[in-house]
Amino acid sequence: METIFNRRSVRKYTDKVISDEQLKQIIKAGMAAPSAKNSQEWVFIVIRDKEIYKAFLGVHPNAFSLNTATAAILVCADLSKEREPGQGWWIQDCAAAMENMLLEATAMGLGSLWMGVHPKEDRIACIKEVCGLPEGIEPLGLMSVGEPTKDYDKIDRYMEDRVFFNTYGTKWEK
Ligand SMILES: Cc1cc2nc3c(=O)[nH]c(=O)nc-3n(C[C@H](O)[C@H](O)[C@H](O)COP(=O)(O)O)c2cc1C
Repeated sequence: METIFNRRSVRKYTDKVISDEQLKQIIKAGMAAPSAKNSQEWVFIVIRDKEIYKAFLGVHPNAFSLNTATAAILVCADLSKEREPGQGWWIQDCAAAMENMLLEATAMGLGSLWMGVHPKEDRIACIKEVCGLPEGIEPLGLMSVGEPTKDYDKIDRYMEDRVFFNTYGTKWEK
């Protein structure tokens, strides 16, 4: 799966507009993610409104990819759809969906970035207000997407000292 090693955080995009069809393909990949008890409690909001980007930039300076993005997708959970309410599985479920989306965008030759919303209170409050999220819809993160302005190196972050065998601290001799 070369896509995994090609995915990089892209924070600057060209002015090429990403189509709705491309965004649908990315969201479809998000919805293919595993979820606890198959809850699939996710909700996605396609955001193209620059005023919303501006508002989020006001609470999160490291969201500057929104200065050049032509599209962003907000990943949220609809807590009423959780199969085990109150357990917090939605965070892992939505994170899996987000990662799937980043990988799909990479496979499509696009750049993307995961911008953290949860658990930062000010970012959550901002997103809830500007995107009009009703009670029970919780934002996990925002993904920007676009055509990268440059090529990125592949990732190889394998760390031998982080892998153990059977018990913590026992070297995995392979
Ligand atoms: C939960 C989460 C939140 C993140 N939030 C931001 C963010 O708000 N802004 C940003 O520029 N990058 C953000 N990143 C991207 C990381 O900085 C990036 O993944 C890391 O530096 C490794 O680089 P790579 O994605 O190119 O491999 C986030 C990543 C994760 C998983």
